[in-house]
Amino acid sequence: MIGAQWGDEGKGKVIDWLADRADVVVRFQGGNNAGHTIVVGKTTYKFSLLPSGVAQGKLSILGNGVVIDPWALLDEIARVRKQGLTITPEVLVVADNAALVLPLHRDLDSAREARAGAGKIGTTGRGVGPAYEDKVGRRAIRVCDLGDEAALKAKIERLLAHHEPLRRGLGLTEVTPEGLLADLADVAPKIEPFVQPAWRLLRKAVKGGRRILFEGAQATMLDVDHGTYPFVTSSNTVAGQAAAGSGVGPAAGGYVLGIVKAYTTRVGEGPFPSELTDKTGERLGTRGHEFGTVTGRKRRCGWFDAVLVRQSVAISGIQGIVLTKLDVLDGFETLKICTGYKLGDEILDYLPAGVRQQAAVTPIYEEIEGWSEITRGARSWRELPAAAVKYIRRIEYLIGAQVSLVTTSPDRDDIIMIRDPYRG
Ligand code: IMP
Repeated sequence: MIGAQWGDEGKGKVIDWLADRADVVVRFQGGNNAGHTIVVGKTTYKFSLLPSGVAQGKLSILGNGVVIDPWALLDEIARVRKQGLTITPEVLVVADNAALVLPLHRDLDSAREARAGAGKIGTTGRGVGPAYEDKVGRRAIRVCDLGDEAALKAKIERLLAHHEPLRRGLGLTEVTPEGLLADLADVAPKIEPFVQPAWRLLRKAVKGGRRILFEGAQATMLDVDHGTYPFVTSSNTVAGQAAAGSGVGPAAGGYVLGIVKAYTTRVGEGPFPSELTDKTGERLGTRGHEFGTVTGRKRRCGWFDAVLVRQSVAISGIQGIVLTKLDVLDGFETLKICTGYKLGDEILDYLPAGVRQQAAVTPIYEEIEGWSEITRGARSWRELPAAAVKYIRRIEYLIGAQVSLVTTSPDRDDIIMIRDPYRG
């Protein structure tokens, strides 16, 4: 299950609904830059790093593709425990071969952003990008190193040899090897009970025919290869990453479900062809409570962009979609859907890769009739006004994928199921 726009598609609620019928829930990329809000009864859980399966006590795995900030993980565990959740090694497993996010990554993330001026990415400031840089640079400290002092010492030396010149250049204070070692030694025994070779556990689950839900974070248009580079996150967010980021073969991926908001939002910088900076955009933001879970930033809002989603459907091999927040469109007299882009004299049916082209494309819209009825809280197809059904059908046609589920409020049960994603 992956986001098919720029994130914040309302994945949390859908994951929760799907996790109810899964045996295992796996995160396979990203880190605590993600934010999934789940409302269960009167309790609102905000997950950043923890797989959403913990809300229901399902076996929840942080796969090797995730970058793990051990301090953030412990804080989050403490926070959700206070809300009544049980987080034990029977529920939570952290892959031994996942790379760590360290305080020095957070420093670097913030310092670079502060200096970037117009080139700012608008990151979440969690250090996720710099942590992935160290991972592919082969100098990361990994979860399995935490309890191994000799390995840690050598790795810290290598890591600081890279970071110290950078820190000096950015005017940051020195990190001493002793200080970092002591910090990691302090956190190690608290993380270690959760650590396992996660791929082995998954192998057993696959062989045993258990239902595995792969929970994507961020979204296809934030993918480091396929997204609006360089205004992206630093991991592969596409469905194919589920296999590499957890250690199962691609066949275990099964059905690919894309989460799509009934309009479009984006946090952070970067191109956004169907963005509305006028009153209509404000109205979408206010009605949809469009503020980031992690950073509280106001999200940019715009009309549904069928070109983008069609591209995500292709890139991630999406087989069905969940259309979320349909109720936010209640009361709009007319709606617009972006069906193509203009680039100079050219008409494009895809988003080109170049940064200048992405910034220069302008949307081609078709107008579609809105509805005055309330869809909020609808739980069956019959409850939807004819114009809303028409809107959904048009989206399906334009993106080339069928709608499996429609969500109509933040409430866990306000979902219309058209096709069961577990049955494909
Ligand atoms: P980073 O992942 O913190 O490096 O941020 C890079 C870009 O991804 C920024 O535009 C962020 O706003 C965006 N981003 C990261 N995580 C999320 C998320 O969970 N939802 C939406 N946008 C995100």
